[in-house]
Amino acid sequence: MREIRFHLIERIKTKTFLQGLKFYAGYGLRNIFQIRKNHNEELLTEEMTEEKIVENFHKLYYENGERTMYNTYWMGKRVVKSPLDLWIYQEIFFKIKPDLIIETGTRHGGSALFFANMCDLLDKGKIISVDIHRDDEIPEHDRITYMTGSSVDPKIIQNIKKIIEEMTKEESLSVIVILDSDHTKKHVLNEMELYSDLVSKGSYLIVEDTNVNGYPVEPNYGDGPMEAVNDYLSNNDDFEVDNDMEKFFFTMNPHGFLKKTS
Ligand SMILES: C[S@@+](CC[C@H](N)C(=O)[O-])C[C@H]1O[C@@H](n2cnc3c(N)ncnc32)[C@H](O)[C@@H]1O
Repeated sequence: MREIRFHLIERIKTKTFLQGLKFYAGYGLRNIFQIRKNHNEELLTEEMTEEKIVENFHKLYYENGERTMYNTYWMGKRVVKSPLDLWIYQEIFFKIKPDLIIETGTRHGGSALFFANMCDLLDKGKIISVDIHRDDEIPEHDRITYMTGSSVDPKIIQNIKKIIEEMTKEESLSVIVILDSDHTKKHVLNEMELYSDLVSKGSYLIVEDTNVNGYPVEPNYGDGPMEAVNDYLSNNDDFEVDNDMEKFFFTMNPHGFLKKTS
């Protein structure tokens, strides 16, 4: 209101009283009759559909990786995930209350530390994080076991199974698997075949970075995680895509949150 009054006074001062009055009356009428469109409607013009807004934001986020996904920290450790996806992880962990979270692809260890800290809050759970390279600065935490080697190396699989055997007493374990290592279709499909059996019924196999190869980023990536998921699901019926995990519109893992149904 103060701004309008100022505007009007300024107009009067500059002898354009009629102009000022027109502005004031127009503003008043628009507000009284709520002629001004709802902001969301303005965004959802014909060209700017909901899908387009999400796609554009996804591209903006991804193409500015140095500012966004490579500049995201959990407790001072870099984590290459979007905060919205991390929140979904937190909701999944609360629901599943996992005994074990297996992650392929450690990188800086920020995701492993995030998982471990979520387990601290739940007061249960261990993390196994596998990477072919070992970063010197990865965070130490009692709940985390790091393994160095390829996620599809039979020795690594054997070591993971040994830990599961040791942890399994009378009751079966609830296990979540997160695939975030080499993102080529061949490797991800191989991982899905090797790790899907380790996921407990009702729990999740999360395939990260299904957004590459045009979904909607990096259109020239080549076959990647999305193609691996599609291939796997067309030959197996033990998992289904949980679209509810995409409720925040933007996720780096579209169709990548797979719930074990049998
Ligand atoms: C996207 S980063 C992991 C990011 C991490 N999970 C996070 O959220 O912060 C991918 C990692 O996968 C590792 N990697 C690549 N090929 C692999 C393989 N065959 N087996 C295990 N890890 C691999 C890379 O060394 C790299 O550290």
